[in-house]
Amino acid sequence: MNGNILNSNINDIKDEESSRALKYIELAKEKVTALEKELGRKMRACVVTFGCQMNARDSEKLLATLSLAGYEETDSEDADFVIYNTCTVRDNADQRVYGRLGQLGNLKKNNPHMKVAICGCMMQETSSVEKIQKSYRFVDLIFGTHNIYKFAELLNTTLESDRMIIDIWKDTDKIVEDLPVKRKYSFKSGVNIMYGCNNFCTYCIVPYVRGRERSRSPREIIRECEKLSGDGVKEVMLLGQNVNSYGLDFADNDPDRISFALLLEEVCKVDGIKRVRFMTPHPKDFSDELLDVIERNPKIARHIHLPLQAGNNEILRRMNRKYTKEQYLALVDKIRKKLPDVAITTDIIVGFPGETSEMLDDTIDVVRKASFDNAFTFIYSKRTGTPAAGFEDQVPEDVVKENFDRLLKVVQDTAKEQALKLSGRVEEVLVEGRNDHDERLLTGRMSNNTLVHFEADESLIGSFVNVRLDECHGFYYMGRMV
Ligand code: 5AD
Ligand code: SF4
Repeated sequence: MNGNILNSNINDIKDEESSRALKYIELAKEKVTALEKELGRKMRACVVTFGCQMNARDSEKLLATLSLAGYEETDSEDADFVIYNTCTVRDNADQRVYGRLGQLGNLKKNNPHMKVAICGCMMQETSSVEKIQKSYRFVDLIFGTHNIYKFAELLNTTLESDRMIIDIWKDTDKIVEDLPVKRKYSFKSGVNIMYGCNNFCTYCIVPYVRGRERSRSPREIIRECEKLSGDGVKEVMLLGQNVNSYGLDFADNDPDRISFALLLEEVCKVDGIKRVRFMTPHPKDFSDELLDVIERNPKIARHIHLPLQAGNNEILRRMNRKYTKEQYLALVDKIRKKLPDVAITTDIIVGFPGETSEMLDDTIDVVRKASFDNAFTFIYSKRTGTPAAGFEDQVPEDVVKENFDRLLKVVQDTAKEQALKLSGRVEEVLVEGRNDHDERLLTGRMSNNTLVHFEADESLIGSFVNVRLDECHGFYYMGRMV
């Protein structure tokens, strides 16, 4: 874990809320220092992240606050401050949180100084908060997605109170700049470009828990990228639920109103940033302008994640996706013609209400025709409060399971075929770290997002090197540095 904390100097900070946060961090630090003296040991904090890259980025902000307040970071939940940053996109994410929370309660019995906090998307749902209030009474702090910038203040209050503190906001139009961040990687970083979603796909809880679309000003985004570059970051990933609608929430005459394509081009101009990724574009808004920008900027990664969700037109209509199977395939065709070495990956949901096996055949047809380089397949999960939860034709579990397995087989075959095409090529990779299973190997990520493992010295972590792709193992390669 890298030790650098960005924006820890109050003199660099323009945003009033961030200056306030630093003052609360100082107050919390006094309490942490007093506890250290009392206990004769360091205080330790653990941040556990569930869900997407947005949450991972938020967790880096939580961790910076805890570190500046004097906590040592640990991966063990047997710590003095444990915070769960939750996801609620599917029910199994909720269940994982409850499972782990139960175990945490046991740990807390042995450490009277332990504080437990829960935040993130799940906390924006009243039923989850009620369940925690009732069944997990040992939790000290609950807050949501809209007031995460208040964490320092909430931390300070938690340290001086024995009561459960709950602070959930319905919505916000505020964007707080300059909060301190402690990055997980020294050489790559996520950069939020917008928050929230306006699309209301009928299965999806995100618009309800993350609120309406709010774009950050392009100047702030570029300023953050410049700071990151100055700090040694070489790869950035621009993050938003639907990056193609970046800037559309600014007034027509606002000079900040630039398209996502233009923003991407500006980010590419930042010195020292060598690779730029983005996640996630919506197929309905994918512009020709964006394709042109990708084509003429080699810094932009050759990887487009383009969520399909379903291939049947009736299901797509009922999902409120606003494109047809034919339009999606035409877009993939256009992308592949213009950017022949791009990898296209996708998300697919199986078992949306009313989806028959014949309808799934349409999805399988798209997978074959689009030749996805990879696909994340999910079983439909009914989310209370979304329109689809009220649809009457929920699909029986055995049909879903059978369809899911059928789709997975085709997805795996297609991904393998695509990966095999790279065999023998020499690719530039960003070395991300040691291989989890074999100490001698390092892992690098190609522009198209494929991983390759190869023997090399640890000192290369964080740099770009060229690797020959020798052996294809499905989703990844074994290779040799050249
Ligand atoms: N059930 C299953 N998968 C879902 N996703 C979003 N909502 C649901 C749901 N209710 C999937 C979509 C999205 C990805 C992040 O999660 O495929 O693209
Ligand atoms: Fe959910 Fe659709 Fe918004 Fe993605 S675009 S976050 S699937 S509502």
